[in-house]
Amino acid sequence: MAILVTGGAGYIGSHTVLSLLENDYEVVVFDNLSNASETSLKRVEQLTGKSVTFVQGDIRDKAALSQVFEQHDISATIHFAALKAVGESAQIPLAYYDNNVYGTITLLEVMQQHKVYDFIFSSSATVYGEEAIPPYVETMKLGTPSSPYGASKVMVERVMEDFGKSDANFRGVSLRYFNPIGAHESGQIGEDPKGLPNNLLPFVAQVAVGKREKLSVFGDDYPTQDGSCERDYLHVVDLAEGHVAALKWLENNSDFAGTDAFNLGTGSAISVFAIINAFESANDIQIPFEVAPRRAGDLPAFWANADKAAQALNWQAKRSLEDMMKDTWRWQSNNPNGY
Ligand code: NAD
Ligand code: WQD
Repeated sequence: MAILVTGGAGYIGSHTVLSLLENDYEVVVFDNLSNASETSLKRVEQLTGKSVTFVQGDIRDKAALSQVFEQHDISATIHFAALKAVGESAQIPLAYYDNNVYGTITLLEVMQQHKVYDFIFSSSATVYGEEAIPPYVETMKLGTPSSPYGASKVMVERVMEDFGKSDANFRGVSLRYFNPIGAHESGQIGEDPKGLPNNLLPFVAQVAVGKREKLSVFGDDYPTQDGSCERDYLHVVDLAEGHVAALKWLENNSDFAGTDAFNLGTGSAISVFAIINAFESANDIQIPFEVAPRRAGDLPAFWANADKAAQALNWQAKRSLEDMMKDTWRWQSNNPNGY
């Protein structure tokens, strides 16, 4: 039996493939390489000494997906494949809904046709919406995110819920990630954004390596301790291990049917200025920055209540902020131009 990992060549996907292989799972990756390179998987193979089956294809291509289920004995799908740039999603919303929502529906249809029902979905803290008061807890209702990207995650969670009500075989888990950062401690795999990084840590790392002159801190007048936004940053390897924990939870809970959701975060938030300081002191590098206007759509602060994952999945983020900073820098300095 193998685990199908859509989007498995990407940032979180490649780290999860590595964790799956370390836990003796067989893995089939299905990725259209729209935001990734197959090199990530080659490196995962080198790091683990195990092989990965890679199929290049698009989740909206039913025939290509069907072939994967025909040629491999798939027991469960971990579904990372999506477009993920929040700002871009407002420019090209149709592409986001097509890729993220229609793509997921196509995947679920093909899974149902092949009687594969275990499904782990890459959701996001953004599904709690703009009005939710942190810490976010899974008992809160799905909210209204400000971006089409966020809305696509809410829509998929709804699709999963309705699908689960219609087919008692379906077992869907939404993992709601907070802010994954860092890289594998080997420095061999990591986040490789194309063009100008949207997210904080890739930008900081590119300033550190000399590719960008300085960081813009988007706002220092928020109602937070130091005026900059606060987020719940977690190490991507902890996040990857959260997927293995969710898979084992599905395997060990044969009575479970329907859908459930788990927050994957550390349970506490830190500010943009604190990230800059942590990066500087962990790596002994100065990060020049300037304070810039607020970025549209940013919330002042949010973090996870991470109790449910701790209790049910026996999962907790265990790597420190210093680990996250050192591992980010090891990846960026070893690979100044990415893969
Ligand atoms: P990523 O872009 O590195 O990975 C996504 C992968 O999916 C890429 O390899 C891309 O080539 C592939 N892909 C995209 N569209 C595809 C399609 N139609 N068919 C096949 N493959 C396709 O992003 P990531 O940061 O690793 O994110 C993975 C998942 O986690 C995404 O669903 C994202 O929305 C979600 N997520 C990410 C974050 C974050 O901060 N990185 C936070 C919450 C949720
Ligand atoms: C973190 C903080 C910025 C860049 C986004 C999505 C979310 C999830 C993760 C997928 C914010 C500040 C950033 C910069 C800055 N993705 N910042 N200068 O916005 O919390 O979350 O990615 O689901 O859905 O919304 O993460 O890394 O973009 O920003 O000051 O150049 O860093 O304002 O406060 P965010 P981020």
